[in-house]
Amino acid sequence: MPELIRPTPVVRDSYLAGERATWQELGALPSWLGEAESDFGSFAASRAVTRELWGVPTTELWFVDGPAYLGTVMIRHQLTPQLEREGGHIGYHVVPAERRRGHATAMLAAACTRCRDDGMAEVLITCQTDNIASRRVIETNGGKLDTESNGIRRYLIRL
Ligand SMILES: CC(C)(COP(=O)(O)OP(=O)(O)OC[C@H]1O[C@@H](n2cnc3c(N)ncnc32)[C@H](O)[C@@H]1OP(=O)(O)O)[C@@H](O)C(=O)NCCC(=O)NCCS
Repeated sequence: MPELIRPTPVVRDSYLAGERATWQELGALPSWLGEAESDFGSFAASRAVTRELWGVPTTELWFVDGPAYLGTVMIRHQLTPQLEREGGHIGYHVVPAERRRGHATAMLAAACTRCRDDGMAEVLITCQTDNIASRRVIETNGGKLDTESNGIRRYLIRL
């Protein structure tokens, strides 16, 4: 049964393979992948703490099934004006080989539970208008369309 957990060295090999495939799809291989490969323990530990990203405190969580890494969720605990427009509280991706198996839908549900347990009453989630898969993920999790402009749909989920 997959679970949403803090980054862990246990999924090293599947994480490196999955993230390499994710970034290859985008046509860029980030330098941090090489750093992760050389010292995965330190890499995972540095991501296992809530840290400042996008100018706000951010928690990174990995969706894993035993040794298999499936995807990442980023929970942004606050919003900036930029994140209000695009980005929202929660971002996610599933590695290419694991898509269309319901993982993103389950990941977002687990992330919403975590946000509710942290005392949040509502989360903003955004996606590109043409990202049909992400729209389905958000709507299945109760997302209500708030606004849509410039190719970005902004959804609110009551927790
Ligand atoms: C969007 C993404 C997270 C979906 O992950 P996933 O694990 O495949 O999603 P799920 O299996 O939970 O599928 C959710 C729904 O989308 C549909 N779906 C998935 N991929 C699809 C595709 N390529 N085209 C059309 N529909 C798709 C599924 O059939 C499912 O529909 P249903 O609810 O009617 O059954 C994944 O494609 C991804 O990581 N994409 C790149 C990053 C990204 O777009 N992140 C979101 C940014 S807002």
